[in-house]
Amino acid sequence: MTIPFSTGTFPASAATDAARSPGLEGVVAADTILSEVDGARGRLILRGRAIEDLAGQMSFEAAVAFFWQGLLPLPSSGDLAAAFAEARLKAHAIAVPVMQSAGPGLGSYERMRLGLAALCRDDAAEDALTMTGAMPVLLAAAARIGRGESPIAPSVAAGSASDLLAMLTGTEPSARAVAAIDRYLVTILDHGFNASTFTARVIASTGADMGSAVLGAMGALKGPLHGGAPGPVLDMLDAIGTPERAVGWISAALARGERLMGFGHRIYRQRDPRADVLKAALGQLEAADGRVALAEVVEREATEALARHKPGRPLHTNVEFYTAVLLEAAGIDRSLFTPLFATGRVAGWCAHVAEQRATGRLIRPGARYVGPQPAG
Ligand code: ACO
Repeated sequence: MTIPFSTGTFPASAATDAARSPGLEGVVAADTILSEVDGARGRLILRGRAIEDLAGQMSFEAAVAFFWQGLLPLPSSGDLAAAFAEARLKAHAIAVPVMQSAGPGLGSYERMRLGLAALCRDDAAEDALTMTGAMPVLLAAAARIGRGESPIAPSVAAGSASDLLAMLTGTEPSARAVAAIDRYLVTILDHGFNASTFTARVIASTGADMGSAVLGAMGALKGPLHGGAPGPVLDMLDAIGTPERAVGWISAALARGERLMGFGHRIYRQRDPRADVLKAALGQLEAADGRVALAEVVEREATEALARHKPGRPLHTNVEFYTAVLLEAAGIDRSLFTPLFATGRVAGWCAHVAEQRATGRLIRPGARYVGPQPAG
């Protein structure tokens, strides 16, 4: 896939300024108790626990309760699943009609954003519960409206992952598909100061409401250098087609100056630990014939080709590569991969907004002016 824009072209004088870092590489903007992305060791820790001990081990609701502890109020009953179910009912009543009123021609992500905006009430605690709980309804309704189908009402008896699949497909999901979605949502719950989380914190630092911060973060997540990559990963696998074509296809893409989707990371200099967490669940699902084998060959050949292409820059598999393969095997259409990413990540954004409000300061970096000065 060709990235249709420059990722950083600056005047030579500015580029040599050691104090300036156009991508804020190496800049530590805050202390956080939420997550640590250890790029050198390829490790991800959420609130003191390795991602491998959370994803696949607990439901999305249990992971959110663990992640929010001490930062966002949890329901006094202790039952976050029930509070999320209530949020789904609220979203079905309030947000879905707004989403329907927008008419055809709107992408699923944009329609979800519209629904989310309809739910914001400028009360941080309530908004975190409502927004995070509501996402499965927004995703399923956006997909169904886009397909010209009627949205399906949520079930209060189901968990978020199970209800999401039921509302999306109109059928009872398999336990394996539910487990895969739960694992995915927990895997991507939080990841340091990535672009969307940083966006949320910048907005929160101005004193703006939680809804504004989350809606802004959704915008940042959409780009192909961030949460927009997994759909294009499948496009790449489709274009490669068979394992024998991998080497030729990859070298031609790199020769054209294209980036291989699902590879490379700003922080990781090792394989992204989330790739293995997601890959581990593939054996439980029925992927399309030969898909996993093709993915493994493409991963191997791409990693080798990237090592030759950029010898000084370790470029390994990132989370998006196996996100694509896993979600496809779980029956999720590729157009919904980024919406599903937002569905899990919203819990992380909300916690960062709460932390920013509690400990942060207005985020306002400087810029060096390199334009012309007024004449005279
Ligand atoms: N394919 C080919 N070349 C790459 C790739 C890739 N996937 N990733 C980086 N490179 C190259 C760059 O072109 C650059 O070359 P240059 O110095 O000649 O310009 C060099 O490696 C260094 O890359 P940077 O741009 O410095 O890496 P950065 O930290 O800015 O980018 C990013 C990280 C955006 C993830 C990048 O690796 C990329 O574009 N990957 C593909 C898109 C992708 O998978 N996105 C999902 C990321 S995970 C997430 O956000 C959830």
